[in-house]
Amino acid sequence: MHPVGAVHEFHEPAYAQNWAERFVPTPPRQALFDLIVEQLTNRALPSNHIVELGIGPGYLALEILGRSRIPSMTYEGVDFSEAMFAIARSRLVDFADHVVYTQADLTDADWTARLSQTPGAIVSTWALHDLGAEAHIASVYARARAVLPPGGLLINGDFVKPDESPFEYELGRITPSRHEELLRAAGFRDVQRLAYLEKNIDHPTSANNYACFAGIA
Ligand SMILES: C[S@@+](CC[C@H](N)C(=O)[O-])C[C@H]1O[C@@H](n2cnc3c(N)ncnc32)[C@H](O)[C@@H]1O
Repeated sequence: MHPVGAVHEFHEPAYAQNWAERFVPTPPRQALFDLIVEQLTNRALPSNHIVELGIGPGYLALEILGRSRIPSMTYEGVDFSEAMFAIARSRLVDFADHVVYTQADLTDADWTARLSQTPGAIVSTWALHDLGAEAHIASVYARARAVLPPGGLLINGDFVKPDESPFEYELGRITPSRHEELLRAAGFRDVQRLAYLEKNIDHPTSANNYACFAGIA
């Protein structure tokens, strides 16, 4: 049996387009977006600049830009795929004046140096597992902690391996407990598991088992 996971070709325009069309948010995935929008709306952030790691086709970005009501918000989507930027640009056309696209590989140490301004929050959904290794997730958490000012918020919703799973998962799908340990080790406080959605221990697929974590810088 193959490890639970998926292989992507995010740099290929046709693959990216087809994948984006299949990735249209389902009701449980929408629940994750609702949670993130609520977190951003209910907190006083140290800056109104929101950075998303792995903006992809822009589904989360559309929700945040359309609904979070952060005054004078600016949004920065980080991704390594030009093909994904093209799809996100078209989805977010109504917010074009407020969105910046920053090309960077999140496995490189210098992605924070490429940000256009200091973020008040860093968000991500279903992206960090694609970095392919726990060490890369730990590095992203550490760099996010370093670039966020005191009171800044990190929220990451991502595919996980259930703590109690007997199955092998691709290496970027780590357990919820490990995410929490890595966030604390990076220096985040008030680390919380906000949700665990579509949990399925016995019948895992590449599309179920995702959880959302938050920490304060
Ligand atoms: C599932 S998509 C994100 C979906 C997005 N959160 C949304 O709501 O539309 C994952 C994204 O992560 C990006 N990605 C994967 N590995 C990356 C890396 N090493 N550096 C930067 N971006 C990466 C991919 O190009 C893809 O656009």
